[in-house]
Amino acid sequence: MSAPAIPHHIAIVMDGNGRWATRRFLPRVAGHKQGVESLRRCVRACAVRGVRVLTVFAFSSENWNRPRDEVSGLMDLLAGALAREVPRLSADGVRLHFVGERSGLSERIAAGLAKAEQETAVNERLVLNVCFNYGGRWDIAQAAASLAARGEPLTEANLHGAMALAHVPDPDLVVRTGGEQRLSNFLLWQSAYSELFFSERLWPDFDEAALDEAIAAFARRERRFGQTSAQVADAAGQPDRRQPA
Ligand code: IPE
Ligand code: IPE
Ligand code: MG
Repeated sequence: MSAPAIPHHIAIVMDGNGRWATRRFLPRVAGHKQGVESLRRCVRACAVRGVRVLTVFAFSSENWNRPRDEVSGLMDLLAGALAREVPRLSADGVRLHFVGERSGLSERIAAGLAKAEQETAVNERLVLNVCFNYGGRWDIAQAAASLAARGEPLTEANLHGAMALAHVPDPDLVVRTGGEQRLSNFLLWQSAYSELFFSERLWPDFDEAALDEAIAAFARRERRFGQTSAQVADAAGQPDRRQPA
């Protein structure tokens, strides 16, 4: 079956902010600031196109290893964005979830995340998962630990249900901007059958046209989930596009 025209769930590694800034002789934090603008544009564009879930990687478990001023700049940016963006997102029908280890964050930030989630909880147009202080390995380990604490068996289904993204289906399309072709500890469990798309664009330059390019590439993919092309075509009542006519 060829993929539907619009993915239900898109996940994005928003990479390249630092290079965007450095190329303009600006401090790296200026690139992160521009990255917030790019995210706002992307959320709107996804909602307009009928994408129902957008998951973005904003700060990884490993990003604590960056210079202290960049880390504190990112924390300040998050605090500012919470204050400024949440009313706008809510007006656009966006429901926010923050995904990641909260205990590593300051009380002020953690309280801001919880408030933003509460304030947007009734919205239904688009779910926006912001992965912050998140790592795919952290997620698998926390899911296993919570099952063990409840005395539940570590089955695939139980683990899936205990993951931080259990409230949404797995991503159909995982995009990484900035030219690197790696996952960097993003959605290790949930991306098992996602289509991958790597864009050379730096995240602040990832505009509607770049999003449409990723979606168009997705629509051309054949998702087989382990089956043969013939089986997939048969189930969809379509001719097998991999066989000679
Ligand atoms: C991604 O952009 C944002 C975060 C990791 C917070 P980078 O800051 O990694 O940008 P580059 O890769 O250095 O250009
Ligand atoms: C991944 O980007 C994390 C985010 C986009 C938040 P990085 O820039 O941290 O990844 P590496 O270090 O190049 O693998
Ligand atoms: Mg990077």
